[in-house]
Amino acid sequence: MKGLILSGGAGTRLRPITHTSAKQLVPVANKPILFYGIEDMAAAGITEIGIITGETGPEVREAVGDGSQFGVQVTYIPQDAPLGLAHCVLIARDFLGDDDFVMYLGDNMLQQGLESFIERFEADRRRADQPTLEGAHPAPAAQILLCEVPDPQRFGVAEVDAEGHVVHLVEKPEHPPSNLALVGVYLFTAAIHEAVAAIEPSPRGELEITDAIQWLIDHGRPVRHDLLEGWWLDTGKKDPLLESNRRVLDDLESRVDGTLDEASDIDGRVVIEAGAELVNSRVRGPAIIGSGTRLVDSYVGPYTAIAADCVITDSEIENSVVLERARIEGVPRLVDSLIGRDTDVRRSGQRPTATRLMIGDHCSIDLE
Ligand code: G1P
Repeated sequence: MKGLILSGGAGTRLRPITHTSAKQLVPVANKPILFYGIEDMAAAGITEIGIITGETGPEVREAVGDGSQFGVQVTYIPQDAPLGLAHCVLIARDFLGDDDFVMYLGDNMLQQGLESFIERFEADRRRADQPTLEGAHPAPAAQILLCEVPDPQRFGVAEVDAEGHVVHLVEKPEHPPSNLALVGVYLFTAAIHEAVAAIEPSPRGELEITDAIQWLIDHGRPVRHDLLEGWWLDTGKKDPLLESNRRVLDDLESRVDGTLDEASDIDGRVVIEAGAELVNSRVRGPAIIGSGTRLVDSYVGPYTAIAADCVITDSEIENSVVLERARIEGVPRLVDSLIGRDTDVRRSGQRPTATRLMIGDHCSIDLE
């Protein structure tokens, strides 16, 4: 079994962060989102992983390297334009050969690992090898992962019959036939290659993987499904990203490798990385403070991840994700925020008392 991780796309819903950086490399609990998918594959015994990259390819390569840090071997497959998820399968043909593969959207995060999903598929296939009294049980051509959601219009949606067969799939329907959304994790056999070559681009100009799976169903190839256990988030926007951060921090194990002076204290599950320093500051977990970050006269509250080499002085921050080298100074209360790399947020006290901004395109600012 191989792995295919999709790490292209423009990330328009996470601008301005994604003007300069891949959405899959935005950190959740101080680790790039993409790394969680790679680690899940490695844990399930998948060692050959293809990563589809777009414009941010060089940055993704720089972060992931040859895969050895995860115990896997990575092959990069550049996609010239974001032409759809099925197009990714098309251009990965040489890498995939005729092997089965798990396809994983690089901005999805799930609580459950991949083991049970793969095991379900293998069990189905073993059953297919042994005809029963009721007749032959056809081998699955694909397996999808479904999750009940309150807003199926935002996703690919599946209709499943009483026997559990997937009978119909539709991408972002106005009138969803069910509340079962397609999670961004799929398992395919080589049958998918014929499907992705046969379908036409959708109205949004993309080759949709949803249409390719529908093609399999229409051509009598069985598509199985598995229901998701635990949480799942498509991290492509600020609020789901902050939610992923909360979920991951909830499972944090405390560790203090950095330094605290006597006037500082920590409370609850907190990670202070080596080289981080607290001066007259308090961190209330779950929270993580990256290496080389300095907190001075500040409070970091629950569900906050501060990346490496930040400086936070005379400020309070909660339920937020702060990227590398940000500087926050004199800000009494910052909540629900996503703060990019090398940024500067401060209250200088200069007269006239006013808000002075130098903000990039597609920023969003909510004043107190
Ligand atoms: C894609 C798929 C959709 C799926 C979703 C999961 O949508 O097309 O079927 O439900 O990922 O995250 P996109 O995020 O590309 O709009």
